Amino acid sequence: EGQLSSSHPTACKPKTYVVFLKVHKSASSTIMNILFRFGETHNLTFALPVNGASQLGYPNYFLAESVEGFSSGNMSDFNILCHHMRFLKAQVQRVMPSSTFYFSILRNPVHLMESSFTYYKGLSPFARARNLEEFLSQPAKFYNASAHDSHYAKNLMTFDFGFNHNANFSTNHTRQMQRNIEEAFDLLLLSEYFDESMVLLKEALCWDLDSVVSFPLNSREGRTRAALSESMVAKIKSWNRLDWAIYTHFNRTFWERVDRVVGRERMKQEVRALCERREQLAKTCLQGGGSVGPPEIRDKSLAPLQHGQARILGYNLKAGLDETTGRTCRRMVTPELQYSSALYRRQFPWKPVVSISLHIPIAGAGQRG
Ligand SMILES: *[C@@H]1O[C@H](CO)[C@@H](O)[C@H](O)[C@H]1NC(C)=O
Ligand SMILES: *[C@@H]1O[C@H](CO)[C@@H](O)[C@H](O)[C@H]1NC(C)=O
Ligand SMILES: *[C@@H]1O[C@H](CO)[C@@H](O)[C@H](O)[C@H]1NC(C)=O
Ligand SMILES: *[C@@H]1O[C@H](CO)[C@@H](O)[C@H](O)[C@H]1NC(C)=O
Ligand SMILES: *[C@@H]1O[C@H](CO)[C@@H](O)[C@H](O)[C@H]1NC(C)=O
Ligand SMILES: *[C@@H]1O[C@H](CO)[C@@H](O)[C@H](O)[C@H]1NC(C)=O
Repeated sequence: EGQLSSSHPTACKPKTYVVFLKVHKSASSTIMNILFRFGETHNLTFALPVNGASQLGYPNYFLAESVEGFSSGNMSDFNILCHHMRFLKAQVQRVMPSSTFYFSILRNPVHLMESSFTYYKGLSPFARARNLEEFLSQPAKFYNASAHDSHYAKNLMTFDFGFNHNANFSTNHTRQMQRNIEEAFDLLLLSEYFDESMVLLKEALCWDLDSVVSFPLNSREGRTRAALSESMVAKIKSWNRLDWAIYTHFNRTFWERVDRVVGRERMKQEVRALCERREQLAKTCLQGGGSVGPPEIRDKSLAPLQHGQARILGYNLKAGLDETTGRTCRRMVTPELQYSSALYRRQFPWKPVVSISLHIPIAGAGQRG
């Protein structure tokens, strides 16, 4: 894709064994698109969920057997594992080689909970609360720690990393979690600093700029975003105390890494280059240069799954793009479910075609979020 690529100046070797823990509601769909694109264009093998499902057994702990081709022995060399899972390193290590690069992304729990309330409004912990304020004023009235979907309403990041989201807070406990995460993961990104994160990712993986340039995917229209009062913010932090401890810790180590690996000055330049490239690609690829609401999306194969009370935005491609450019642009705006099933068909052409499972969580129904 010569015309759209840019070069990487250094002589490092691009990493091709990657695990991404896709933490819910943290810009992780956009990162998944980056990994899908890189894997597809470099002919890498994905560790995909069996039967073309959309998640790796979530919310149960990850099991190697939930990867298509693992049990049959038909596949032995997996490059990229990035579908939703509840992390369990020992199982991931059965699938991925020891040289694998592990990374994930965290989001400020205040923003995360506001988002997850809108997105998972139908789930049991939220269903009876009129709004987030009511939920937070009396969580005990709505929250049942034993319910199968309780993690969507409390310490969701803690849960996705494989820890108990209902554990009591103690400094010891949170230190232990932080240490475990540090031992398991090579890089923790932050969705509040998405562009800086992409620069760190590009450096760590030795990928070129175009590989990490993206348009936001699975993002909500602004008007479904709730403004939060100071007292709400305080309540969310204390309700999600484990997540808060994880986030603030890795927010610190993130900036230490920026200073150590890139430096603030070069980081600014790299972020500028990234933004310019994104704008350039938006002009090249996108009708109107940006995102549109669900009814405006003309090509239904590019329509993202709609969910809860959020309105998830999508894109229209410009008409008349040449074939190579059109292919590159289309990859960047293909929603994750469609992209994932296309990769499944490509990797397992002999398997029956599965329809995209729209895993909409419904309260009470054994949903998978
Ligand atoms: C990927 O595979 C296709 C078809 O086999 C081939 O044409 C292409 O050159 C390969 N690309 C890379 C980057 O290996
Ligand atoms: C293994 O791969 C072959 C094609 O290479 C396919 O025909 C066969 O059905 C696969 N087996 C399983 C269990 O998926
Ligand atoms: C909480 O959830 C568990 C598991 O679904 C259920 O057995 C229990 O009755 C629930 N408790 C309340 C107070 O609803
Ligand atoms: C947390 O502490 C409370 C009160 O000390 C206790 O009742 C509860 O069982 C503890 N929860 C867990 C998950 O340890
Ligand atoms: C915290 O951990 C340290 C070292 O592991 C231990 O000595 C100490 O007793 C622990 N404190 C509590 C309150 O559990
Ligand atoms: C994250 O770190 C930045 C830079 O040190 C700081 O400005 C910001 O307040 C931190 N955010 C949180 C939530 O701790």
